[in-house]
Amino acid sequence: VNHQQPLIARSEWLLDPNRAHLNQGGFGTLPVAIADAAARWRRDMESDPTDLFMRRWQGLVDGVRDRVAAFLRADPSDLVFVANATAGTATVLGSLDLGAGDEVVTTDHRYPAVASQLGALAARRGVAIREAVVPLDAGTDADVVGPIVEAITARTRVVVVDQVASPTGFVFPVEQIVRAVHERGVPVLVDAAHAPGQLDVDLAAIGADFWVGNLHKWVCTPRAVAALVVAPAWQERIRPLIASHHYTDGFRAAFDWTGTLDPIPLLTVPDALSFWESLGWENVRRYQHDVATAGAAVVATALGTRVAVADRFTAAMRIVELPGALTAAESSELAGRLTTEHDVTAYLPSHAGKSHVRVCGQVFQTPADYARLADALVALLGQSPTPSAIASSTSAARAASSRFS
Ligand SMILES: Cc1ncc(COP(=O)(O)O)c(C=O)c1O
Repeated sequence: VNHQQPLIARSEWLLDPNRAHLNQGGFGTLPVAIADAAARWRRDMESDPTDLFMRRWQGLVDGVRDRVAAFLRADPSDLVFVANATAGTATVLGSLDLGAGDEVVTTDHRYPAVASQLGALAARRGVAIREAVVPLDAGTDADVVGPIVEAITARTRVVVVDQVASPTGFVFPVEQIVRAVHERGVPVLVDAAHAPGQLDVDLAAIGADFWVGNLHKWVCTPRAVAALVVAPAWQERIRPLIASHHYTDGFRAAFDWTGTLDPIPLLTVPDALSFWESLGWENVRRYQHDVATAGAAVVATALGTRVAVADRFTAAMRIVELPGALTAAESSELAGRLTTEHDVTAYLPSHAGKSHVRVCGQVFQTPADYARLADALVALLGQSPTPSAIASSTSAARAASSRFS
């Protein structure tokens, strides 16, 4: 692959052409072709909203469901839509009726909002949370599966794992995890916010009890829409957080209408899938992985640090160590200055006491985007940076610092 030439020009996206966009995974990005499809759906809907919602809705949802189920290799009767991954994990955790004496196992890679949901279960219902430490330098599947299984006790009611973790880009061997956890008789919730599109998802092979994946991140639909897939044995139990007309009419009916919402993201999913299929998912994923991997190496070399996760546990997101540990306030200050002073958008997550920059590969990127990030980080951090100097360099940063500390 010649990465001097992107797979698709950035002008095919609605992105600021002057900026290096290295945070595909954060909130997604919108290709012009998908934005046009969304605009057609909006005109269609607005020509008669009542007809769309009263007469056409069920057929439209079922059509999207069939298409997404085929894409994820799921049974369409197990698949419903929710607003986003946060709603999906909250829906499952909220439906399980957990209480005092129950335990939930998760890992130290879990998304902060999921940690908040588990924290609320602990504070309000007395649920105990056990966080397995999955080492960043894991080399084998056993290094990942082992700590998760070891955290299971007789009281464990559910194991919550990521398919692709947000702060680390770590791709979990979810098929092996589900198998090992099921051997202990415990169900698994897979937070797959980043998986659809980034990975070739095979839900039949994974066999999770609950799985939720965003379509607005790597399938690039308009924000926001996510697929929630629930194994048949659990479908009587799982209900939307918001009860509406069909709450008691079964699993799918309860989710297919939860009150009036903007349906355009959902209706645009088939158009977005067609967009990527026309490029070939394999080409897309290879390009994303290769450009991110090469780019991460450029950043690590410039900073004199290293790329943190082994290639076999990554897909389109790589994290590179920063030379020192930043506080949350310092990270957000640095990310802001990358954007406002250097026209680079990137996410700066922390994990296990270390700070990183996360880079995402996307088909419009070239090595120049990563080189710009590397130059900007070197300029802002210096050769042997003292991270606290960053946040104290402006009065705005001092104010932000005190807000967060
Ligand atoms: C692992 C993980 N879970 C959940 C979420 C939340 O996604 P959303 O904001 O679309 O609900 C994210 C978002 O980045 C994520 O990375």
